[in-house]
Amino acid sequence: MADKKQSEKMEKLVSLAKRRGFVFPASEIYGGLRSCWDYGPLGVELKNNVKKAWWKEMVQKRQDVVGLDSAILSPKIVWEASGHLENFTDPLVECKKCKKRFREDQLEKKECPDCQGELGESKQFNLLMKTNLGAIEGKQDEAYMRGETCQGIYLNYLNVKDSMRKKIPFGIAQIGKAFRNEITPGNFIFRTREFEQMEMQYFVNEKDADKFYNEWKEWTMNWYKQLINKKDNIRWRQHEKDELAHYAKEAWDIEYKTPFGDWNEFAGVHNRGDWDLSRHGEFSGEDMNYTDQDKNKFIPWVQEVSMGADRAVLMFLIDAYTEVETRSGDDDSKHQTEVVLKLHKDLAPIKIAIFPLFKKDPLQDSAQKIFETLSAKWMCQYDQTGSIGKRYRRQDEIGTPYCVTVDFDTLEKDNSVTVRDRDTMEQERVKIDELEKYFEDRL
Ligand code: GAP
Repeated sequence: MADKKQSEKMEKLVSLAKRRGFVFPASEIYGGLRSCWDYGPLGVELKNNVKKAWWKEMVQKRQDVVGLDSAILSPKIVWEASGHLENFTDPLVECKKCKKRFREDQLEKKECPDCQGELGESKQFNLLMKTNLGAIEGKQDEAYMRGETCQGIYLNYLNVKDSMRKKIPFGIAQIGKAFRNEITPGNFIFRTREFEQMEMQYFVNEKDADKFYNEWKEWTMNWYKQLINKKDNIRWRQHEKDELAHYAKEAWDIEYKTPFGDWNEFAGVHNRGDWDLSRHGEFSGEDMNYTDQDKNKFIPWVQEVSMGADRAVLMFLIDAYTEVETRSGDDDSKHQTEVVLKLHKDLAPIKIAIFPLFKKDPLQDSAQKIFETLSAKWMCQYDQTGSIGKRYRRQDEIGTPYCVTVDFDTLEKDNSVTVRDRDTMEQERVKIDELEKYFEDRL
């Protein structure tokens, strides 16, 4: 169970996320829609940076992985073939007294956690979201919102292999929304009903499955580790036989220590064997066999990397959230603790903040010019309100790695600005002409 200090940390994080424009409750002016969240101006930058960082490592820098963006909607048969209509269920129990519903496997006692009422019989509840397509009532086609993005990858396996002339082993990656009718969503953006996944399916010969499985496990851990500060807060956990998903032969989760409930799952690496391609071959009638150079025919095995983009955002926020004693040298001595979001530079929503020391014409003009130059390359923010200390604090709180201040010496003496580093708080003078190169070296 999360202790008080930890749950306070989570409250502070959620409040910061709202106050500083990262994440807002969705449909808030109408009272909100439980478990739905909107990403604000800084949140969308952070999430885009997470997805960009993933795509760069997963697709851009590799010759054996290509990208895809498949439809969210698909016909029922896709989910019959994938096994989700039959198996993608959670055990649901309802309280006989207050009628609230819970996931049976998440309850500590056999009673309602809210009113201690008696619980009814457990039923299997399917998590897929159904919808109807077409305008004529009664004649609408039943369709499903995807419960995992990788199904679109299997549906396009032949298209991608043939159009891109890919030979095994190769992978297909996709980032996109998935939908699950979770019984108990919660913990901010950790468990929601609409969320984004970053998934890659690697098609291999069965005999090479273990080798590639281990390689992708290593890749996944490395990806997170190079973006977080607290490397001891991340670990692997293997699925027990009885918790394996219906498609999995082997599964390991990446877990991160969270302020709610200690270790929680953030990603999974799965050996899906030939389950998916075989089933889609069977249900569609298409030949999913691969023919190798020796004319051997076989259904490829799939090694899957599956990560939640929203969960990754949450991990990076939790990991980056740091409280420090007053440090900005501000005149406002009321501030005892300050928040510094120590986000990796690649993830920080704003890379450089630009300030004129005072609201005076020549300083403002020069700072505006610097903004125009640097914002062509990086997300920048111009800020001229409040003391310099306050402005540093504002940027620390949203994780901006660098602040640039234009002062009178800039104009009268050295044509240089002060660049302040978020983490070391060191300040150095850099010539305006050399600023672009300075940040190219660092960002
Ligand atoms: N294709 C395999 C698959 O979907 P999963 O373990 O069900 O496997 C993979 O989901 C990842 O998707 C999880 O590790 C998590 O990061 C994310 N995810 C799953 N359900 C989620 C939810 N309700 N809200 C947010 N993220 C979720």
